[in-house]
Amino acid sequence: MNILLLKTLHIAGVFALFTSLGSILLAGSGKKGASMLHGISLVLVLLLGFAMLGKPPMHHAWWMIKLGLWLFIGVAPTLAKRKVLPSSIVLLLCLLAATYAAYLAIMKPF
Ligand code: HEM
Repeated sequence: MNILLLKTLHIAGVFALFTSLGSILLAGSGKKGASMLHGISLVLVLLLGFAMLGKPPMHHAWWMIKLGLWLFIGVAPTLAKRKVLPSSIVLLLCLLAATYAAYLAIMKPF
């Protein structure tokens, strides 16, 4: 598939991910739909990320760091649910993690 189309879908996955995080963390929604959207969009973002990488450049660290940020955004609802951190702080950290993930993809500093 065209790389730009993959990138567009990857970003669309991020939109869906943050729609679910807004619902879970801000509105305190325990609805099944919100958790499903969170899980499905997480998988989409990951698969499309690897589809763009093709053969992952093992000598680059930026995409491995993105993997860690992706993992954090994945466990974020559990952190709020178990009251490890307040929901608003978890959402703020997710926004910072996503901003850093975008920066890493654009600048590829390492
Ligand atoms: C939730 C976490 C993530 C967010 C918020 C995110 C965000 C983004 C954004 C905004 C872009 C577009 C950058 C541009 O305009 O060039 C992008 C590109 C990309 N992302 Fe992600 N991403 C995430 C996770 C991942 C993961 C887990 C992988 C792979 C393991 C990945 C691999 C890529 C690749 C390969 C590109 C294209 C880079 C290029 O243009 O050369 N991303 N990501």
